[in-house]
Amino acid sequence: MVPELASRAHQSNIVPVVDQALREAAINISDVDAIAFTRGPGLIGSLMVGVSFAKSAAAALNKPLIEVNHMQAHVLANFLSLEGQEGKTPSFPFLCLTVSGGHTQIVRVTSPQQMEIIGQTLDDAAGEAFDKIAKVFELPYPGGPLIDRYAQSGNPKAFNFPVANLPGLNYSFSGLKTSVLYFLKKQLAQNPAFIAENRDDLCASVQYTIVKTLILKLKKAALETGISNIAIAGGVSANSGLRKAVTEEAVKNNWQVHIPPLSLCTDNGGMICLAAYFKYLAADFSTLDVAPSARFGF
Ligand code: KG4
Ligand code: ZN
Repeated sequence: MVPELASRAHQSNIVPVVDQALREAAINISDVDAIAFTRGPGLIGSLMVGVSFAKSAAAALNKPLIEVNHMQAHVLANFLSLEGQEGKTPSFPFLCLTVSGGHTQIVRVTSPQQMEIIGQTLDDAAGEAFDKIAKVFELPYPGGPLIDRYAQSGNPKAFNFPVANLPGLNYSFSGLKTSVLYFLKKQLAQNPAFIAENRDDLCASVQYTIVKTLILKLKKAALETGISNIAIAGGVSANSGLRKAVTEEAVKNNWQVHIPPLSLCTDNGGMICLAAYFKYLAADFSTLDVAPSARFGF
């Protein structure tokens, strides 16, 4: 990902995308109740495009402006459903494992606006680990979905990689990347075709290790907090291995599990809209001097 290119792409796409959304929803921009935008966390150049557009729209249309935290919106994707597939939503309080390209968090969710991070990665995010290791496997960006695809036909126990177990509820994924890198260097010295010949087993083993690491702390968090309502969110929650593991753990531990539909796991406008809807009901509006924040927390 090249931040400069990402912000330029935002700049050229934002008006056509909003136009298309209005056309598909068959509404006029004057019909909207408020203008919501992502304040952060994220790439600052891209955030600035969205914030500036939202402020201009809110000022021109005289509509309230609502800032949304990107990671809280991922959590709230659990309250979205696709048309015709409406189902149960999580009950409060619940724990959400939010796993994306930039973050890995265990969040205690008390209400749509009350969330507390009780565990997180101290270095790489789970999605970052998937993408960086995929790069080592010579797969294109983003490698997470490709590792998932090749893992389907591989043996998850073919290679043994370390599961980081930090004290408390925190994660670390940088050691895994280093360990895969050293393992491959050794193998490639003996067999230059090692990656191509073992691609599916390598992907399955890496996915198995990342999922095992994620589940380890999620289980610990459920035990420590006594909360058995569990949800997952973020791009990595699209991973078939993680979805399966969380479903299996639910049976073993008596959890009530909620998993968002695949298309709502990765970044989407719907989750930003829903997070803003809850704030709209609480009349929690922003002023026109609001600025984006690459590390916006909560
Ligand atoms: O939430 P998201 O769309 O964007 C961020 O906020 O970062 O997450 C993107 C991340 C990427 O690292 C991508 O490789 C990963 O989610 N991802 C997956 C899968 N689908 C997306 N990782 C593993 N398996 C997948 N199926
Ligand atoms: Zn995201």
